[in-house]
Amino acid sequence: MRFEIVKNKKDVPIEQVMALLKESYWANNRPQEVVEISLAHSDVYYAINSDTGEAIGMGRVLTDYATNYYLSDFIVEETCRGTGIGTTLIHRIVNDESVAKLRGIILTENKHVSLEWEGFIPNTDRCMVREAGTTAKPPMDTDIENFEVVRFSKGIHFEDVMTLMKESYWGNQRSEETVYNSIANSECFCAVAKDTGMLIGMARVITDHAAYYYLCDVIVDEEYRRHGVGRNVINAIVTDSELGPLRGILLTRDAHGFYEKFGFVREPRKCMERPRADQKAAEAAQLLHRK
Ligand SMILES: CC(C)(COP(=O)(O)OP(=O)(O)OC[C@H]1O[C@@H](n2cnc3c(N)ncnc32)[C@H](O)[C@@H]1OP(=O)(O)O)[C@@H](O)C(=O)NCCC(=O)NCCS
Repeated sequence: MRFEIVKNKKDVPIEQVMALLKESYWANNRPQEVVEISLAHSDVYYAINSDTGEAIGMGRVLTDYATNYYLSDFIVEETCRGTGIGTTLIHRIVNDESVAKLRGIILTENKHVSLEWEGFIPNTDRCMVREAGTTAKPPMDTDIENFEVVRFSKGIHFEDVMTLMKESYWGNQRSEETVYNSIANSECFCAVAKDTGMLIGMARVITDHAAYYYLCDVIVDEEYRRHGVGRNVINAIVTDSELGPLRGILLTRDAHGFYEKFGFVREPRKCMERPRADQKAAEAAQLLHRK
């Protein structure tokens, strides 16, 4: 079959996208309006049948264009499977210049060989998921007299964000440009000291505003930890009227207990990760070491 891969093609009829998603086990009940919003906030890649012009496969990406991307709704029309469309589609997506160097994450119950070919490896110990519609939130007994949690506003000093990132084990090597782009392309939630206006904690989400968000860069200034700051930041996200009902995903090395309080559960089986281009060698060495 002849097909081509196209990105962000605006004139793919929504009925074709709905028909593809109907064949999936994860989105077969997703309402059309949710699908429409999610497409509008993602980079969508379609496989188009060159003879009929119909969409016969798709995959979409949520990204901040600086650190991570989350790949979802990766599907090929049932009658066209086994003909190399999925492999070509995934190859095109992960090599797109907008994400080629970033870390990729996908949740999947089927381990696709094509994902492994493209460098995705199972991530068995760091992934947590908060399913759509989860209502769990921790008791908020901490008084927040001294700080408030706000959505990122221009009043927050970029230097304060850099200072926080420097305290993290995962973001302390990031350039100013990377940090700047990552926050500019995310929804940021910031804990700000009321007396000084200083940024004392933050978290950000990369989202399609309809189906998923990816939670990352959760960090509280060392001096203010264990005083309820982190809890209030995450609470603001999971109780947010727009984000709260969506499915949340995060990767963490060691703070699982913290997130469990908000209804995130460990998900060791479904997550695959494609390390950043500059981390591939280190990650591969770690994997070998684990074996
Ligand atoms: C993890 C972090 C964001 C939590 O923020 P915080 O302001 O210190 O946490 P809070 O004071 O709001 O604590 C809320 C609850 O989570 C618990 N908790 C805090 N950090 C935890 C951790 N690393 N692991 C397990 N539980 C933790 C607290 O004991 C507290 O429990 P309680 O409600 O039973 O008293 C903060 O400690 C931090 O920045 N750590 C370093 C960076 C990091 O590890 N980020 C997460 C990686 S993705």
